[in-house]
Amino acid sequence: MPAEATVVADYLSAQENKSLLRFLTCGSVDDGKSTLIGRLLYDTKLLFEDQLAALSNDSRKHGTAGDDLDFALLVDGLAAEREQGITIDVAYRFFATDKRKFIVADTPGHEQYTRNMATGASNSDLAVILVDARQGILTQTRRHSFIVSLLGIRHVVLAVNKIDLVDFSQKVFDDIVAAYREFSAGFGFESLIAVPLSARYGDNMLERSPRTPWYDGPTLVEHLESVPVADDALVRPFRMPVQWVNRPNLDFRGFSGTVASGSVRPGDAIVVAGSGRTSKVKAIVTKDGVQPRAEAGEAVTLTLEDEVDISRGDIIAAAAARPEVSDQFAAHLIWMHDDALLPGRPYLIKIGTRTVSASVTEIKHKVDVNSFQKLAAKQLALNEVGVVNLATQQPIAFDPFADVPQTGAFIIIDRMSNLTVGAGMIDFGLRRATNVHWQALEVDKASRAAMKLQKPVVLWFTGLSGSGKSMVANLVEKKLNALGRHTYLLDGDNVRHGLNKDLGFTAADRVENIRRVGETAKLFVDAGLIVLTSFISPFRAERQMAREILEPDEFVEIFVDTPLDVAERRDPKGLYARARRGEIKNFTGIDSPYEVPASPEIHLAAGERAPEVLADEIVAYLQRLGYLA
Ligand code: ADX
Repeated sequence: MPAEATVVADYLSAQENKSLLRFLTCGSVDDGKSTLIGRLLYDTKLLFEDQLAALSNDSRKHGTAGDDLDFALLVDGLAAEREQGITIDVAYRFFATDKRKFIVADTPGHEQYTRNMATGASNSDLAVILVDARQGILTQTRRHSFIVSLLGIRHVVLAVNKIDLVDFSQKVFDDIVAAYREFSAGFGFESLIAVPLSARYGDNMLERSPRTPWYDGPTLVEHLESVPVADDALVRPFRMPVQWVNRPNLDFRGFSGTVASGSVRPGDAIVVAGSGRTSKVKAIVTKDGVQPRAEAGEAVTLTLEDEVDISRGDIIAAAAARPEVSDQFAAHLIWMHDDALLPGRPYLIKIGTRTVSASVTEIKHKVDVNSFQKLAAKQLALNEVGVVNLATQQPIAFDPFADVPQTGAFIIIDRMSNLTVGAGMIDFGLRRATNVHWQALEVDKASRAAMKLQKPVVLWFTGLSGSGKSMVANLVEKKLNALGRHTYLLDGDNVRHGLNKDLGFTAADRVENIRRVGETAKLFVDAGLIVLTSFISPFRAERQMAREILEPDEFVEIFVDTPLDVAERRDPKGLYARARRGEIKNFTGIDSPYEVPASPEIHLAAGERAPEVLADEIVAYLQRLGYLA
């Protein structure tokens, strides 16, 4: 048998004349999502014979459906196949009826939303929201519906599944539908219909069920076949994020990518969103030759009339309808990771083909998905939705999500683990940001440092409370001072009495503590000083941030590596004892983590050695690397 992907491609091309509906299904595991998709695939006959044979075997062995086929096993079986690396576009299933062809986005759990946004399946035309008739509407249902509306999906089917398990009760159905309509009234859905279903037995899937005589609406498939959905992506302005610059020889320079929205023809005036440079499209090239037009969804290479500087991550856009460019914007975020979103922490955001460092500067509020109340928040936990301001390290081109979803959605990636931890939709750019310009000053860092005959640097001490950071930093400062160097020491306990007296010891507050200290250290470096900072600074991400806002040789990370039991035995301020008694919460090493530096410039085995010796080791390092020359 040829690879599944080829079969699917052939199949789809044979179906070219039918309209296409893209939809996604939402529901928790037990709502019967897999069974529903399995049933759609089975009843519309896009099952391969051998998969069917395997299915009936498996059903007898592991199924929960007696002698009937267990459709959930089918979808899970496909999942197992994709783990083995068999070729199929993992996120989508294809099927067709006489009237329409369908692509259903099917990925488990949160990944579904992440993937949808990441791959632009936020273009889904419709969402099937499953509820278990026995359970009714759950928080999960509300959350999914809210996310669906945030994603800009305007057509919804409420699939009230397992209606057989409530004796096909009209009352149960009506109550669920009434509650759902009330709750979703503000979502702006263009169409919302509810269908009583049994995915397992097929009631009201393709054929009207004789067991729900009181229901006179369409079956699920009838509705999916007939619901009118306009392809909005085509009427939106032209956008193409550049995936790569195609330059096979000196005579050809093309820009390759997938058209995200709108369409383009040779002669069209375009603009490179970031730089504002304009030109005209010369030709549209694909692997099959030149073509007169390209539209949303097509992967093409554009050549331009002029030599324009464009690189990967830029957006080529219609000159008359430009995207915005800013390094600050307001957005809705959906957080998808167990570790909360912390304002001030640097993450990566990926928008189109561009990936930049970014952090949340403010959480304006989070949204209670049950009541839609706006709640104050210092962080966003797993599955929480919030409205935030974001700042990116470099300006990016984008559109408000409501105008062009394809260039207004982004994902958030954790810099340490590389996992997708959140997804967002841009509400609008913050213009004031673009009105604040960096003031170029005449006297610069180099001239200030030259006056002092020194090379400015930050000596960043990190380690547990009681590790000896402050004591060693103090000694180093004394020695540098004796050598005639101009220094400044920022110490945790002291800074927390002034600049940071509004901060405590939650993870969010520590992130902000270190962010401010990093920025302050940078200012002192700019003043030409040798800066010593002595903070636990327990998180890798923030130490990394402090490093990155400085020049590469301006940051010396010094890990004062004292084992916890030694620090605890010393307990200079009696804090460990209090933390053990539960009187202090979030104490580093006790009930709050310390992330050990992976590759510090200086790793001090500090437990047993005298502070004097450790200080000498640091001064020797600075001498060796020319900081004191
Ligand atoms: S950091 O984690 O945000 O970098 P910082 O270095 O500013 O911490 O402050 C640590 C000092 O605050 C400790 O040396 C200790 O004296 C005091 N402290 C009070 N409560 C805590 C706590 N819960 N965890 C750690 N240190 C605490």
